[in-house]
Amino acid sequence: MTRNPESGGQLPNPLPENPLPLAAEWFEHAQQSASQRNPNAMSLATVDKDGTPSARIVLCKAFVAEPGYLVFYTNYESAKSRAILANERVALIMHWDALGQQIRMEGIAVKSPAAESDAYFATRGWGSRLGAWGSDQSKPIATRAQLEKQIRERAVKLGVELGKDINTLAGNTPPDIPRPPHWGGFRVWPEALEIWREGADRIHDRARWVRALTRTSDDTFECSAWKASRLQP
Ligand SMILES: Cc1cc2nc3c(=O)[nH]c(=O)nc-3n(C[C@H](O)[C@H](O)[C@H](O)COP(=O)(O)O)c2cc1C
Repeated sequence: MTRNPESGGQLPNPLPENPLPLAAEWFEHAQQSASQRNPNAMSLATVDKDGTPSARIVLCKAFVAEPGYLVFYTNYESAKSRAILANERVALIMHWDALGQQIRMEGIAVKSPAAESDAYFATRGWGSRLGAWGSDQSKPIATRAQLEKQIRERAVKLGVELGKDINTLAGNTPPDIPRPPHWGGFRVWPEALEIWREGADRIHDRARWVRALTRTSDDTFECSAWKASRLQP
């Protein structure tokens, strides 16, 4: 049976030497096509200090094809961040079902420069900014009511006056809320990247590229040329 025939097309032949422009093009196309909610969602797999894997969805907020990394934002004290800080090796998957496309990556996650996290945080609405202060992500809390109480208490400390519910303000002016030190970006530098395109009768088109990363600073790597190979589906 032919699945999703409109996804069509095959990977270029010969394969491009560098897969990142093609991957970035697919990422952009997925944002434009509006074929699903959150087309920038990706599943992020980490391995904690005991070797236990875990995965969750995060949003890709920047796809920087040159020199080649992706950025997501999170709480630096969350379970995923604790895993990354113990073991920087991660895997990512983006899947656009309606487009019949998948991108897989394995690589190294490093904290984004603080100024970059500041700049991104400043673009967020006041509610998300308050949320970053209000929630101790991944930590237990007894009840929803207790969580809302905690958010209200932290809002008061930030000089934010909330309305009847936690998503509304008592006044009209959006408050100035700085980035919490425990919240920011991670850059994921892929050292392996697979592009997968759905084909009829499960004869999909797959190609995998690998490169070597050499650390040049806390958040930057020098990247070797990529090596490409086609994979059987
Ligand atoms: C569509 C979607 C987008 C999400 N985006 C993010 C995100 O960008 N950053 C984040 O920390 N959590 C995001 N989450 C929540 C995570 O999946 C996860 O619940 C949270 O980060 C805690 O994970 P952890 O306990 O493994 O650290 C998102 C969830 C969904 C369903």
